[in-house]
Amino acid sequence: MKVPLLDLKAQYKQIKKDVHQSLDELLASQHFILGPVVTKFEQVMAEYIGAKYAIGVASGSDALLLSLMALGIKTGDEVLTSPFTFFATAGAISRLNATPVFADIEPITYNISPAAIEKLISQQYMPDPESGKLINKKTRRVIKAIIPVHLYGQCVDMDEIMALAKQYKWAVIEDAAQAISSIYKNKSAGTIGTTGCFSFFPSKNLGAWGDAGLITTNDQKMAELLKSLRIHGGTKKYHHKYVGCNSRLDALQAAILTVKLKYLDDWQKARMKNAERYAELFQKANLLDKISLPTTKENRNHTYHQYTIRVLKNKRNDLAAFLKQNEVGTAIYYPLALHLQECFKNLGYQPGTCPESEKAAEECVSLPIYPELTSEMQNYVVDKMKEFFSK
Ligand SMILES: Cc1ncc(COP(=O)(O)O)c(C=O)c1O
Repeated sequence: MKVPLLDLKAQYKQIKKDVHQSLDELLASQHFILGPVVTKFEQVMAEYIGAKYAIGVASGSDALLLSLMALGIKTGDEVLTSPFTFFATAGAISRLNATPVFADIEPITYNISPAAIEKLISQQYMPDPESGKLINKKTRRVIKAIIPVHLYGQCVDMDEIMALAKQYKWAVIEDAAQAISSIYKNKSAGTIGTTGCFSFFPSKNLGAWGDAGLITTNDQKMAELLKSLRIHGGTKKYHHKYVGCNSRLDALQAAILTVKLKYLDDWQKARMKNAERYAELFQKANLLDKISLPTTKENRNHTYHQYTIRVLKNKRNDLAAFLKQNEVGTAIYYPLALHLQECFKNLGYQPGTCPESEKAAEECVSLPIYPELTSEMQNYVVDKMKEFFSK
């Protein structure tokens, strides 16, 4: 049996008629840059997420970059984030010549750990007596913002992050690229910080047919600034108040995403059901001393953008190879933590600086969890894993 990591063709069959109709309407209008379809999508998304404003942009990476630009992050500033995330999170900081500062993750959620942030602060920073902002003892640079990443579909401990942000006057940019419709204490991911950044990369729980992204905010001025920055900082045609970039949400993608949004809640439920079923099957198969399953902390849900397990005792790569031989798709998100990436060598991090992230990079593997996954396919995945561990 073949079990791919993700099967977008199965989803396409379900939505084909609706999407084609919506695309036909857009094609008839020939209005491809911003316009009513993008505006409508932004309204629907703001409502769905529960934010006052939603601004469509070209990608999740640009959502992060534009948020940092709008907050005035610049050369010499420091921005805290997780080392265990997709590269774009830290890349956006570096692109503005600011410095990413990595605090380690919590082993059970893989999200940035408030305790690790406090430890880092106590060791390397001192509060400025006048402003209360944190100054790096070595470089004298100031932490201006934090980007918590809601990894795999589960929210970060946002109460703790917001309390630290308040104390030290950080802006908070939520990287909610993997967390559409994830909830933390009755609030949606992307509505708690200053901005929320979403990705509609095709494999995301709400995926476009190309690159697309969105920024949410409850701050009207921020929304206006972001709308200007995505069109080269223009305020009226050919008049530029700021230097921005070209980062608009493509109208074709907005048309597709508007249709797909109607299916999203059902797809999320199916992902959650599949996760529950895996947990039952792994328990029945007596595998819980060989792997650890995703854990959802209190006061939040998990929307399973990824169903990521830990494989204990150095067996992760062999298991992934065995599953591949047996036509089960897996992926490793992420095999090398960001503080150890070649491009960040100049930041001077050594192996061992963020031990939980480094361990997760060695032990994690993600299994198929998409909504169309059948019970038979799940049985097959678990049977094959049982076979691997009984060898
Ligand atoms: C956590 C995280 N941040 C940012 C991004 C960047 O999004 P995009 O690929 O749409 O640029 C992604 C996408 O993979 C992501 O997973």
